[in-house]
Amino acid sequence: MDQIVSAMEFKRACVIGSPIAHSRSPLIHNYWLQHHGIAGSYDKIEVKPGELAAFFASMADRGLVGCNVTVPHKEEALRLAQHRTPRAEEFGAANTIWFENGELCADNTDSHGYEMSLDQDVPGWDKAERALVLGAGGASRAIIAALLRRGIGRIDLVNRNFARAEDLAGLFGKRVHAYGFDQAPLLMREADMLVNTTALGMQGKEPLLLSLDSLKDGALVSDIVYVPLETGLLKQAKARGHRVAGGLGMLLHQAVPGFAAWFGTTPEVTPALRAILEDDVRKAGG
Ligand code: ATR
Repeated sequence: MDQIVSAMEFKRACVIGSPIAHSRSPLIHNYWLQHHGIAGSYDKIEVKPGELAAFFASMADRGLVGCNVTVPHKEEALRLAQHRTPRAEEFGAANTIWFENGELCADNTDSHGYEMSLDQDVPGWDKAERALVLGAGGASRAIIAALLRRGIGRIDLVNRNFARAEDLAGLFGKRVHAYGFDQAPLLMREADMLVNTTALGMQGKEPLLLSLDSLKDGALVSDIVYVPLETGLLKQAKARGHRVAGGLGMLLHQAVPGFAAWFGTTPEVTPALRAILEDDVRKAGG
């Protein structure tokens, strides 16, 4: 009998995507499960393109209470869900899925995660009046939304592909201005914060070749790349005396709402958890 009860209480969640081997989400969620003494597990499951609907249909049978969703399924996951949070609708993509009364619900916690990570790592960041954002992809969209929500008055968005920057700026209205990447050094003079939302500088990718020589004194620098933990951009910023925030915080904080939805406890991003993730990144050569 005891065994039956505990089997019923045991909750399973996972992260799905393709490829999925690199995901650090299990490290985060299994740490919280253990820390809170919750009977549950969190695994990685490879779900190939075209297999998402079948995977969702199989979740209940697999005993899964929910999942995180990563590339390439974030847009389709939103479409397939029966309920969507306003912020998931806004971003057109979902990263967190759970069941309510047997129906699939979708949220997008990236923007929230970014906001919470800066609150923890560089408190007072939202006093910035003007921000310079590098890159106009999916990550940029979540970050711009967070900056606007927190009252940053003006955002200059630079991208290699200018048309993409214009399209993204157009989604947000008058406070976001689009430029080509070559304008970054000039715009840096006026920026109270600089954010890299591209993958440039990530281990295995091209470096981000940008001198911070003209960056305004006192500006803070944030990079969403977290492998390596200290990117070339952050190194350069630190050497010039700027406050910096790395990308690990966003990964950690975007995980909080999912854990709360699946396991019923709102976890914290503690130094102990951060140290585990940092160790893992270093082991991978970052
Ligand atoms: P994500 O969803 O992770 O943001 P993405 O949508 O592919 O990924 O966006 C990647 C961002 O990195 C884009 O802003 C891209 O610029 P383009 O729109 O011009 O492609 C930027 N990026 C990638 N490689 C780049 C490079 N070599 N130089 C400059 N920007 C680059």
